[in-house]
Amino acid sequence: MPVTIIVGAQWGDEGKGKVVDLLSKDIDIVARYQGGANAGHTVVIGEKEYVLHLIPSGIFHRHVSCVIGNGVVIDPIALMEEIAMIKSFNVKIEGRLFISHNAHLIMPYHKLLDSIREQGANKIGTTGRGIGPAYIDKYMRTGIRVVDLLNRDVLCRKLKANIEEKNQILSKVYGSKELDVDKIISEYEEFDKKIDPYITDTAAYLHDALSKKKNILAEGAQGALLDVDHGTYPYVTSSNPTSGGACTGLGIPPTAIKNIIGIVKAYTTRVGNGPFPTELNNATGEQLRKIGGEYGATTGRPRRCGWLDLVSLTYSIRINGIREIALTKLDVLDSFDEIKMCTAYNAGGSVLKSFPTDIQTLEKIEPVYRTMKGWKEKISGVKKFKLLPKNAQRYIELIQKLSGAKVSIVSVGARRDQTIKM
Ligand code: GDP
Ligand code: IMO
Ligand code: MG
Repeated sequence: MPVTIIVGAQWGDEGKGKVVDLLSKDIDIVARYQGGANAGHTVVIGEKEYVLHLIPSGIFHRHVSCVIGNGVVIDPIALMEEIAMIKSFNVKIEGRLFISHNAHLIMPYHKLLDSIREQGANKIGTTGRGIGPAYIDKYMRTGIRVVDLLNRDVLCRKLKANIEEKNQILSKVYGSKELDVDKIISEYEEFDKKIDPYITDTAAYLHDALSKKKNILAEGAQGALLDVDHGTYPYVTSSNPTSGGACTGLGIPPTAIKNIIGIVKAYTTRVGNGPFPTELNNATGEQLRKIGGEYGATTGRPRRCGWLDLVSLTYSIRINGIREIALTKLDVLDSFDEIKMCTAYNAGGSVLKSFPTDIQTLEKIEPVYRTMKGWKEKISGVKKFKLLPKNAQRYIELIQKLSGAKVSIVSVGARRDQTIKM
């Protein structure tokens, strides 16, 4: 049973890209299962930094095949740019990238509707990549899939029907300019030739790999607290980043899953709107942002920062079935005199130990903190747990104890070699 799922355990940007790249050394296939180019996964190799949006983070290992599964929504423009970027670094991609014929496509009208909706009253703070509107069409059963690019008549018919409908919405609901049907059709017809070499029945490809006992990493985007079912709705993304999403998003059975690794940042960040109990709107939050370089890898927006929240983490561990934690960015805490960890919520005098996902409750609660002494030492060069400062060891041990999951990897810098295996 060779599938390991890598899942973001917080609100995204936990360092999934780094950990997936690191683990890919011993992996045959890395497969993205949901989301789209809203993701920004950073891989640092030597002095070079690469940001991936759609292509799985195993791409820099020559022996690894990369799959973009049926659950992903693909913006062909973003994909082509990313393929060109990777090729420009002399990384061979032909024969190594497999794109599901069943994945849905993001169209210009999805991006337009995303940005128009964000100008209205109910701002989510999306990445503007058209993710929500594309998943709406998928579930409305009017979406256009990768396979449709292969048949011009089908593509034209579906695009025409969709654009005509969207034009009604754009002009009548939002008073916006209508889109040019012919221009979009000719632009998307071009993608046929470019994407064709990569299109595969990826569920069948993965099934074959499973029968050959190949090792597969399922790479989640975003994080559990942004999950459309289990996150802080409506301030979520429009897919299931939680581990369950890996099976539907790739067409693999739950019985194939061997392990689920939760990527956990040593503190918490969130981009976009929505409740964030441990957020620090003060100099400490600013210090975390500055030291951690907490600016969005996709949009460049400053990330909201705060202390680690064990209440939401314990919830995330439960809904994902996380057994192992990869704890990232521990080095960002090096200079703090005191480090806090939220162990409970105070809700109008009563103590909450479990995470409420309704935002009305979440907006009212006060975090209850446990304060620890910092270690005040640089740890990016440390290679062994026992060589970490005692207070850093205690911080990791406390996370293990309170979360009930084993910390199996500690990341102390963005590079591959800045990692402690436990
Ligand atoms: P992802 O979306 O989960 O892949 O995470 P992002 O790439 O959006 O954000 C994580 C950021 O932290 C990137 O800039 C990484 O290069 C960086 N990073 C990852 N692990 C570490 C670490 O252990 N220490 C530090 N200082 N930076 C890290
Ligand atoms: P990675 O994979 C952090 C957030 C957006 C917004 C909400 C909905 O790099 O961890 P969307 O564009 O998906 O409709 O926006 O989700 N969001 C992310 N936050 N990391 C991400 O991806 C995110 N992808 C979406 O900021 O709050
Ligand atoms: Mg990111």
